[in-house]
Amino acid sequence: MNTEAVCVLGATGSIGQNTLDVIRQHPDRWRVAALTANTNVVDMLALCKEFRPEYAVMSDAASASALVSECRTHSLPTEVLAGEQSLVDVAALDQVDTVMAAIVGGAGLASSLAAARTGKKVLLANKESLVMSGQLFMDTVARSGAQLLPIDSEHNAIFQCMPNNYLAGQQAKAVERILLTGSGGPFRQMPIEQLQNVTPAQACNHPNWNMGAKISVDSATMMNKGLELIEAVWLFNTRVEDVEIVVHPQSVIHSMVQYNDGSVLAQMGNPDMRTPIAHGLAWPERVFAGVQALNLVEVAKLSFERPDFERFPCLRLATDAALAGGSFSCVLNAANEIAVEAFLQHDIRFTDIARIVEECLGMANSVELSSIDAVLEVDKAARARARQCLAATQV
Ligand SMILES: NC(=O)c1ccc[n+]([C@@H]2O[C@H](COP(=O)([O-])OP(=O)(O)OC[C@H]3O[C@@H](n4cnc5c(N)ncnc54)[C@H](OP(=O)(O)O)[C@@H]3O)[C@@H](O)[C@H]2O)c1
Repeated sequence: MNTEAVCVLGATGSIGQNTLDVIRQHPDRWRVAALTANTNVVDMLALCKEFRPEYAVMSDAASASALVSECRTHSLPTEVLAGEQSLVDVAALDQVDTVMAAIVGGAGLASSLAAARTGKKVLLANKESLVMSGQLFMDTVARSGAQLLPIDSEHNAIFQCMPNNYLAGQQAKAVERILLTGSGGPFRQMPIEQLQNVTPAQACNHPNWNMGAKISVDSATMMNKGLELIEAVWLFNTRVEDVEIVVHPQSVIHSMVQYNDGSVLAQMGNPDMRTPIAHGLAWPERVFAGVQALNLVEVAKLSFERPDFERFPCLRLATDAALAGGSFSCVLNAANEIAVEAFLQHDIRFTDIARIVEECLGMANSVELSSIDAVLEVDKAARARARQCLAATQV
């Protein structure tokens, strides 16, 4: 069997490292053609030594220079590239078959879109690209014939429970609802009045998943579930009203699909991202992922609750943005990224995140997003507004 060439965007992150762990177990199936990171030279060097990719990109120029000298010192064959354009270039390389899009935030948009435009097998972890540019992204995939496979555990679960060819086939009509599950994060039961005092360390301490800082805070505000709602609407061509968010604290069921004959199909497993990553990499086959088998007797109990929109205002804001359509989701995402970064820097309180996002949405008008430049313009303006809101915030 020929090995498939993989480009891992965001290789030093949580998803990137999990992807490389699956690849490490199957050298007969996959080889690493390109790896990218922002500033983490130490981890990137270790990955270059192990996987010997043709290209390694550091978005940050100084980090790229540091990696160049390290690669020279260790006589590595890897060509080191610098800057944002290089992310796009390696995602679009002719010799690359599969792209894992795992950069965090809007910084991943251009490279995810490049992979889609050049017809790759696109493993999409970077949900922010779909939230920012849903219609443009899906049109790009349809035009190029790219194979888009969701890596977010919920969307991967939904994909596994959907009928074949769900976007076009007759069977798609049999789908009544998507049940999008979420754990409720670390603050599901904390008294609401205490939320304003929670620290970044508490917010990043997710009860079930070990993830990067930004998505951990998004899980704590449940903005993550809101972004996932928007992601599901685009991926599965469904209405906002047909996606029901269900809080499921054990994170064993990763999401469900309800059919018109009364069947509800669920995908289950231990909370380990190597399962959806291995599923995406090997699809339509399956491979060993190194994940411990689920022991339902040990889990013993699966419980379900309605989401609490008062405790988690970001969930309401994301739902409203999804219903409003147009560029509101792009504004929601940009304002959230700025606010989360400020919270992680201890510049604002946890509860300010939703307030800043709400203020930015309140100031926004809907714009048509038919090109990446239009998306980036809306994104830039929303970030500027969010920074103004931050400046007016007293901690
Ligand atoms: N973690 C999960 O379990 C999980 C689950 C579902 C979906 N996702 C999605 O997957 C994506 C990645 O999440 P993560 O948790 O893996 O994030 P993470 O651990 O923070 O890793 C982010 C990666 O992106 C790189 N990066 C950061 N800023 C960048 C920039 N400006 N330009 C280029 N590269 C940049 C980082 O490089 P440096 O290391 O050099 O900073 C790192 O390689 C997110 O969209 C997230 O929503 C994650």
